[in-house]
Amino acid sequence: MKSSLLEASRADLALVYRLAYVSQATKHFGSDDLADIEQKSLSLNADLDITGILVIDEGRILQILEGGKQSVINLFERISKDPRHESVKQVAGSEQDHRLLSSWSMVAGQASSTPEDLRADFRLLHDRLTKRERLDDVSAEEVELLKVIALFRSVPI
Ligand SMILES: Cc1cc2nc3c(=O)[nH]c(=O)nc-3n(C[C@H](O)[C@H](O)[C@H](O)COP(=O)(O)O)c2cc1C
Repeated sequence: MKSSLLEASRADLALVYRLAYVSQATKHFGSDDLADIEQKSLSLNADLDITGILVIDEGRILQILEGGKQSVINLFERISKDPRHESVKQVAGSEQDHRLLSSWSMVAGQASSTPEDLRADFRLLHDRLTKRERLDDVSAEEVELLKVIALFRSVPI
């Protein structure tokens, strides 16, 4: 009992690797495509203890993955080879002391049902990250924007 509590607190203290990338869709992503990615991600990411978020708007893709460093890098390499997107560019990759997406197993959100000001913010963020010249972390505010967009997708319009 005592040792399992100790293990749990060690796991909480373990560093988490947070990776972000931007890319361009090679095809239109309909709700079926997102459902396919979400469904695959749910089981695989859970097995790997990876959490994250994915937002797509007008061909712009931004995804954040969090978990053990090697697991995240391996998954990113696999996703990079997926022909459904191109110009995949890693923009963030660093060890952090906590997750920003601890309860997000991998939510894929399409920004088309999101208010226009949030979509404009997303496009600006995507364009800024695409031009980034070196790896840097994503900020908590940037992650919040993605969460709000992902949540809007379930609002009926
Ligand atoms: C933009 C994008 C994001 C993806 N994110 C994930 C993900 O987080 N986890 C995952 O398992 N697959 C993700 N996939 C799907 C993988 O690329 C791949 O299809 C999946 O892991 C199944 O691999 P397999 O086709 O080799 O079986 C993503 C695909 C795309 C296009």
